[in-house]
Amino acid sequence: MRWWKSSIMKEKGEKNLSTEPYKGVRDFYPESQSIQNYITDVWKATVESFGYQEYNASILEPSDLYRAKTGEEIVNEQTYTFTDRGDREVTLRPEMTPTVARMIAKKRKELSFPLRWYSTPNLFRYERPQRGRLREHTQLNVDFFGIDTIDAEIELISIASTLLTNFGMSPEQFEIRINDRAGMSKAFSEMGLSDDQTYKMYKLLDRKKKIDNFDEEAEKIIGAPLDLSKVKSIAVTKLIRQLNEIGITNVKYDPSIIRGFDYYTGIIFEVFDTSSENNRSLFGGGRYDNLLDIFGVDPVPTVGFGMGDVTIRDVLDTYGLLPEVISTTDLSICVTKPEYRDFATLLAKDVRAQGVNVSVNYSNKKVGDQIRYADNKKIPYITCIGDDEVKGETFKIKELATGKETEVTRNTVTEAFVE
Ligand code: HAM
Repeated sequence: MRWWKSSIMKEKGEKNLSTEPYKGVRDFYPESQSIQNYITDVWKATVESFGYQEYNASILEPSDLYRAKTGEEIVNEQTYTFTDRGDREVTLRPEMTPTVARMIAKKRKELSFPLRWYSTPNLFRYERPQRGRLREHTQLNVDFFGIDTIDAEIELISIASTLLTNFGMSPEQFEIRINDRAGMSKAFSEMGLSDDQTYKMYKLLDRKKKIDNFDEEAEKIIGAPLDLSKVKSIAVTKLIRQLNEIGITNVKYDPSIIRGFDYYTGIIFEVFDTSSENNRSLFGGGRYDNLLDIFGVDPVPTVGFGMGDVTIRDVLDTYGLLPEVISTTDLSICVTKPEYRDFATLLAKDVRAQGVNVSVNYSNKKVGDQIRYADNKKIPYITCIGDDEVKGETFKIKELATGKETEVTRNTVTEAFVE
């Protein structure tokens, strides 16, 4: 039907469609996707080493899920919300926490706590696209349900630290900044602030890094400048001491970390890299003990965090820690004459059955071109099918990087890949 479509377009004088993706989202071409896979592989291997189990859900949620405790800025300004054909208000998930809370609440009585769960959802936020912030990102979510002691915070911060070490970062390259919502609200009430003033102060503190008239704005809310040095937290001091004891020393108390979500109830933390190039957080999380309230079930004390793919990619790039892109194909079969195609196709089938990833080059191009193609695609091994191979029993498998050749039979191909 293409002729029809294009003739209509021409009639209307329309331009060709743009090849750009929608604003603020990314296309992942194979090389970029392989880096994406590397990131998720490190995420999964690390959190599974701490005993976490994977869960998942749909990207669509009823909009009400976010109204209660996600926070005004995200709900009113950053969600993709629409009405479906059945008149329901639907939102593309901007975060995973309300979803996982809903899933836990639904099976509150059947599940045996504590639970260690993780997921790697794609999330949608209508933000102004900029370095470190996009409209769709993938976020590792790690949540520990059912522990009300500081052990949960220690475990989650240890996971955050191990994740970055597993990506090849050294402790000097990142910093974990911790604050305490409970300590903060206690300090504010001691300063005589009302609940409303405290809430407004939280929202202002959340915007502190983005604005330059913080003091002025603070004075508007509380009638005097805010002295953050007066705000202390015993819980944070204890947590930092215990983290130091287990060798995590790049942690610091930062009373300006506040987190945009309304559901946090205690310790909150964010992780930043220490270079000046990336000023966006790598992780954000904290304790949220009461989120299950909104579903009318008994609370479950929880600590969790989210870590985005966009910022970690930027940071790994800054520090030269992105992996070299390698092909998932092990072997390319070069076909020297068109009549050998079927032979090559059957050989590929046998080789695949031995667990080798193999592609056949059907281009009919010269051998040199076929070798260059394999090299360009970063396929490490090549074998050429010519008269001798078709008549005989053996093949030569060549490692392109070294030029080393190994002679194998149809059933012993894997020998070429053994070091
Ligand atoms: P969040 O601080 O909004 O927390 O996001 C966590 C991380 O996701 C950020 O530190 C950042 O790396 C990444 N991120 C967030 N928004 C964007 C964006 N627009 N573009 C690129 N990356 C982004 C939460 O979402 C909480 N629900 C995390 C949590 C889980 N708390 C408890 N459990």
